Amino acid sequence: MKHFLKLIFFLLFSLQPILAQQNIITLHLDKSKDTISKHIYGHFAEHLGRGIYDGFYVGKDSEIPNINGIRTDIVEALKELDIPVLRWPGGCFAEQYQWKDGIGPVDQRPLVVNTFWGGVTEDNSFGTHEFLELCELLDTEPYIAVNIASGTVKDAYQWIEYVTSNTDSEITRLRKKNGREQPWDVKFWGIGNENWGCGGSMDADYYTDVFKRFSTYCNAEYKIASGGVFDDLEWTRTFMSEIKEVPNFIDIAHGMSYHYYTIANNWEVKGSSTDFEESEWFSSMYNTLKMEANLKDHIAIMDEYDPDNNIALIADEWGTWYDVEPGTNPGFLYQQNTMRDALVAAIGLNIFNNNSRRIKMANIAQTVNVLQAMILTKGSQMVKTPTFYVFKMYKIHQDAIQIPSEISSMNYSVKEDEIPSLSVSASRDKNGVIHITVANLNPKDDLETMIDIKGLLDIKGLEGEILTAKTMNAYNDFGKAEKVQASEFKNYEIKEAAININIPSKSVVLLTLNGN
Ligand code: AHR
Repeated sequence: MKHFLKLIFFLLFSLQPILAQQNIITLHLDKSKDTISKHIYGHFAEHLGRGIYDGFYVGKDSEIPNINGIRTDIVEALKELDIPVLRWPGGCFAEQYQWKDGIGPVDQRPLVVNTFWGGVTEDNSFGTHEFLELCELLDTEPYIAVNIASGTVKDAYQWIEYVTSNTDSEITRLRKKNGREQPWDVKFWGIGNENWGCGGSMDADYYTDVFKRFSTYCNAEYKIASGGVFDDLEWTRTFMSEIKEVPNFIDIAHGMSYHYYTIANNWEVKGSSTDFEESEWFSSMYNTLKMEANLKDHIAIMDEYDPDNNIALIADEWGTWYDVEPGTNPGFLYQQNTMRDALVAAIGLNIFNNNSRRIKMANIAQTVNVLQAMILTKGSQMVKTPTFYVFKMYKIHQDAIQIPSEISSMNYSVKEDEIPSLSVSASRDKNGVIHITVANLNPKDDLETMIDIKGLLDIKGLEGEILTAKTMNAYNDFGKAEKVQASEFKNYEIKEAAININIPSKSVVLLTLNGN
């Protein structure tokens, strides 16, 4: 018996280095070339539920501190994220939005019904001027989606003229009369939204023609076409092949949009955002990881028709979508945000970083009080969600050079399915600092991992930060101490140009290092 125990101990100790090396991340610093566009860290805010009204915008007369109706605490919080771009006014709402309803004296703006989201009254008090003031407060670039399904070409080009033109005209005089002398600098314009569905139920051929007509008249710097449903590769092929036939196509099409939502179950029963089983945690990870293969399929088609990479893939809606919180309006899409959402955000951002050659923008849905939000509010209270903290950790990748990576990791499995336990991306910034963001998708097991950096001789200094929590469904609640927030992480050791690190279960880790 004694000998047997000795043998077991011997085997455990001698196998430990082998087990410890089962998870290896290799970074190819020597092969870095693509820039991670800062716009991948973009956001989206639609006239939906409590995203704008009773979210960003409480009105000038509110007791909640505000600047011209825009909540000060939200602006201050979001400034921590260095938001590079904000998409507005939808979403589906964009295709019913009449921009002229949202300018001029607020008390004269018409009341309309928001038919897509809850059938509630839209009083148009938050319009073009208010949105662009919000962008100025956030120091972010605006991205406006124009209505091509229930609006005319004239409506669209006049909106762009109103916002961006310095030439004297009836429209620019109207802007000045409404209090804005100088034009705004708005580069990004979306030509429609989900035109396969809520944007007019068009097919790809028809949409491409409509796009060409609108885009020809829309005098804007960067125009983004609607993509198809995420798995509709034929839409991408039709759009890309037909747009390539337009002489100087690069003047009318700069990006094609892509939408992908992570659901844990199915569209009928999406499941609770907080009360879920490990199988739903797993399927959220699994379905987010699946986005990468789908993106690569779209990118392969774009490469075929546009080998010079002129038209970018713009993932302007992504994130988790669950059943709404009990007792809230089903049309308002209000959901809580847990450690599971933090992991989904980390996986999504790693995927976009790693495909940054073609993906030039992404906009998580939808910033405040809607879907996978950064901020949730209740009256005057506000919480920063776990997703907020992921965006705060990851902002260091903005405009840095992407470092290609490979993962060889243990799989995480539930029932018959399995996925890699790790997700990673890395970059080098303009000062030569390397940032590695790695997520452990396994909610139960810590992972001993070696990170090997090819092209680096030694590491001079290393700092770590971690986002994790006690439980899979931990979330930050109103009036309570935060259960999920980032903290310092030191569980690593340096070995020349490699790092041995123990990555805790259900965590997101940021490593910042200098080296030669
Ligand atoms: O983000 C919610 C909705 O999801 C958007 O309005 C629409 O574009 C998508 O279907």
